Amino acid sequence: MHKKNNINKLAVGSTVTACGEAVRPKQLVRAAFVKQEFLIIPANWVRMSKKKGTGTVPMTTLDDKAKEVSPDVVGDTNPTSSPDNCNCENKGKDSGGFILFFFIIGLAAALVAGWIIFPKLLYSQKKQPIDFNHALHNELVEEGCESCHFFREDGSFSGVPKLAQCIECHEEVQGEDPEEEKFVETYVANENEVPWLVYSRQPDCVFFSHAAHVKAAEMDCAACHGHIGESTHLKTYEENRISGYSRDIWGKNAAGFKKNTWDRMKMDDCAKCHQKETGSKGACFQCHK
Ligand code: HEC
Ligand code: HEC
Ligand code: HEC
Ligand code: HEC
Ligand code: HEC
Repeated sequence: MHKKNNINKLAVGSTVTACGEAVRPKQLVRAAFVKQEFLIIPANWVRMSKKKGTGTVPMTTLDDKAKEVSPDVVGDTNPTSSPDNCNCENKGKDSGGFILFFFIIGLAAALVAGWIIFPKLLYSQKKQPIDFNHALHNELVEEGCESCHFFREDGSFSGVPKLAQCIECHEEVQGEDPEEEKFVETYVANENEVPWLVYSRQPDCVFFSHAAHVKAAEMDCAACHGHIGESTHLKTYEENRISGYSRDIWGKNAAGFKKNTWDRMKMDDCAKCHQKETGSKGACFQCHK
């Protein structure tokens, strides 16, 4: 964590790095927007809790408000109770309760905001243009994964398959699956490439080579991607509203725990495996070109 922070500072200072471009003014505006949205919630709660008592008790001073909210007085259903009936010893005790009460509410609100609401606001959900069934296709093709994800002569990786790789079987609709129909009618018929959303997409400034990992180091696809290759449906893609990154980069666990090697793929995750497998984290320019 420390190292990363230092690194970030370094790069922000030197505005010419490719990574520096990642924070554009538009994104900062969006960040401010998310912050605002998030402040509205507690403000509404305060307004609601004020409204509660106004019907029966006139509010004059801050202490009176305290009395209304404090549990002792809320329990008192007598409509004639007015601020004048209050004795001064009780007043002190009530405001202590008031502070504690709001401290607990505030703490609970902060926890809910930090652990539940903020992560929800931070990511927008996007559906893939069409659903794709990996398990079904693995049975139909001859060379398994490599029929669609292969290495070219020069060692570069084909990545997500192009339309040309689907056309031999999907020139026309062959089954009754509505996803296939949508695929053939919208994309194949018009020769439009499918705009697949790539879960593992890294920022532009990161250089990654599949050949080094899959061919040289003989790593399994699942080590970094999980079991997408055997799935029957594509999961929802989640995009970070501030950075624009896929959620698979920073992971789902707010506390940073990692159960599987593929739960997250941040800079530290790449570097940790490099340290373990090659004995060195590598220089910046190895991954940033
Ligand atoms: C018939 C073609 C086909 C076959 C065979 C196939 N895939 Fe895919 N694969 C696709 C398509 C299309 C996508 C694009 C969907 C997407 O963006 O996730 C994809 C996406 C992926 C991705 C997700 C990349 C990302 O981050 O979004 C992984 C990982 C993957 N495939 C692994 C595999 C593995 C492992 C196998 C073999 C067990 C396999 N695939 C077999 C067509 C295929
Ligand atoms: C070897 C032939 C073959 C290839 C290559 C192939 N498909 Fe299919 N595909 C099929 C068959 C067969 C079905 C099942 C049709 C049915 O019975 O519903 C199918 C079903 C589908 C469906 C509907 C089921 C689902 O997955 O949700 C989609 C969408 C689809 N294919 C997309 C693709 C895409 C995209 C590619 C290229 C990356 C591709 N297919 C490549 C043969 C193939
Ligand atoms: C060491 C981890 C690692 C392994 C192993 C790995 N990948 Fe990836 N994969 C990545 C990363 C990181 C990216 C994102 C690259 C980027 O955005 O530049 C990626 C991207 C992809 C993409 C989308 C690429 C694109 O350009 O559209 C596909 C498809 C994919 N991987 C499939 C596979 C398959 C199939 C295997 C197994 C043969 C595999 N990967 C093995 C880490 C890995
Ligand atoms: C699970 C282990 C693992 C993970 C995760 C991993 N790598 Fe690697 N990486 C390796 C190993 C092992 C090698 C050395 C391969 C070889 O023998 O040349 C390597 C080599 C590389 C190289 C050097 C390639 C070359 O041509 O010299 C780059 C660049 C690289 N990794 C980038 C990344 C990035 C970026 C990520 C994270 C998105 C990442 N790696 C995640 C294991 C990993
Ligand atoms: C093993 C590969 C690897 C090495 C080595 C590495 N990085 Fe990174 N770096 C990444 C990956 C992957 C990301 C994107 C994911 C993330 O934000 O954690 C990243 C992100 C960053 C970012 C944030 C960019 C953004 O758009 O948010 C900065 C800045 C950065 N790296 C600087 C450095 C510096 C400086 C060094 C050398 C001390 C370095 N990196 C070494 C893989 C690496």
